[in-house]
Amino acid sequence: MFHVSKSYLPGTWALQDVSLEVGRGQFIFITGQSGAGKTTLLKLLFAAERPNEGQILVLGRNIARLQGRAVPALRRRVGVVFQDFKLLSHRTVEENVGFALDVVGTPRREARSRVFNTLRQVGLQHRRYHHPMSLSGGEQQRVAIARALVGEPEILLADEPTGNLDPGLSVEIIELMMAAANRGTTVIVATHDIALVERYRMRTLNLEGGRLTEVDLEGGGR
Ligand SMILES: Nc1ncnc2c1ncn2[C@@H]1O[C@H](COP(=O)(O)OP(=O)(O)O)[C@@H](O)[C@H]1O
Ligand SMILES: [Mg+2]
Repeated sequence: MFHVSKSYLPGTWALQDVSLEVGRGQFIFITGQSGAGKTTLLKLLFAAERPNEGQILVLGRNIARLQGRAVPALRRRVGVVFQDFKLLSHRTVEENVGFALDVVGTPRREARSRVFNTLRQVGLQHRRYHHPMSLSGGEQQRVAIARALVGEPEILLADEPTGNLDPGLSVEIIELMMAAANRGTTVIVATHDIALVERYRMRTLNLEGGRLTEVDLEGGGR
């Protein structure tokens, strides 16, 4: 994205002149305190919000003014994991993960095998007939990640994906997403959890009052 600004209310900026380039298959963290603009930045990247200024190139298209039928086409290529991950409580794990494939008309047999393989990636194949409520918080979050990954997205956006989890489980979730990056998915993780970010020496950008700066990993400042 280039020189992107976003304002929800006149006179206040959620993002100000943000420029960011992320390479294919890269894994990055966006840090910043509550209200810094992290969620806004992610929403711009899957056209859930529009910028007031700037260009947002995603998978070769400027999506800053994207409308109508082009939006679902973009979203099929971008997986999202949001903090309130809203699994369907009356559906099994398998159905939750497969839902997006049904929507796009993937043949049943192919859908089942993709769901199974994705659940295996997140270590939950043995839970496929369970309901979300009978799973732990960490398992539920892994279901949400499986749901985001099952369509083999080129980009994965995760907003506070470890928000309500113990440190040990948080590490597990981050490592799952790193594995997705190793398979070629571009992964952007927004988190206010500095301790988590510091465990990894991954590219990190910090938002403060809507302004984005690259964090220098070499410096001892963090
Ligand atoms: N839908 C909205 N309407 C008005 N203001 C909003 C809206 N969403 C976010 N904001 C404001 O934009 C700023 C950035 O919010 P957000 O992107 O949610 O930050 P973060 O995810 O880092 O906590 C905050 O000041 C927030 O109050
Ligand atoms: Mg947020």
